[in-house]
Amino acid sequence: MGVFTPDVHTLRELYKAELERALNMEKQIAEKGLPAMIKAATSSELSSAFQSHLQETQAQIQRLERILDEVEGEANEGKCKVISQLISSAYSEVGDATDPMLRDVVLIAAGNQVEHHEIAVYGTLRTWAEVLGEREHAEVLERTLEEEKAADAKLTALASQINVEVPVA
Ligand SMILES: [Fe+2]
Repeated sequence: MGVFTPDVHTLRELYKAELERALNMEKQIAEKGLPAMIKAATSSELSSAFQSHLQETQAQIQRLERILDEVEGEANEGKCKVISQLISSAYSEVGDATDPMLRDVVLIAAGNQVEHHEIAVYGTLRTWAEVLGEREHAEVLERTLEEEKAADAKLTALASQINVEVPVA
């Protein structure tokens, strides 16, 4: 996971480290991942799905920053290596997919993988917020979690339309 280090002694410290990693994850998605995916998408529906998730992501970043303002401790933005890896492999796969329809399939697959990682991160954070008695944080994190689930479902629905048009052999 990459947030647990020997200087972490409490769940609250772990919560803060994971919030910081989530913030870095969202920033990478907003600055590198989604803009490239919007540009590479052929289907206008797919491109607008990425576009609307970019707007959601910007709001998610602000929510995380607000929560982090309330959590005491030294600021230390941890890099989310999982998302860096997912984004860089999506870049190279999208670059290799010269067929526009196949490229959309690759983009949806990459998008689903990113969403699943985000769902895992926010599920963990929401639960830790509840355990720590941070009810308002838990509600905010739950809202983001639901947005990630909806974005994942939207991509899955688009996949079922686009995949059938791709030659299977
Ligand atoms: Fe997100």
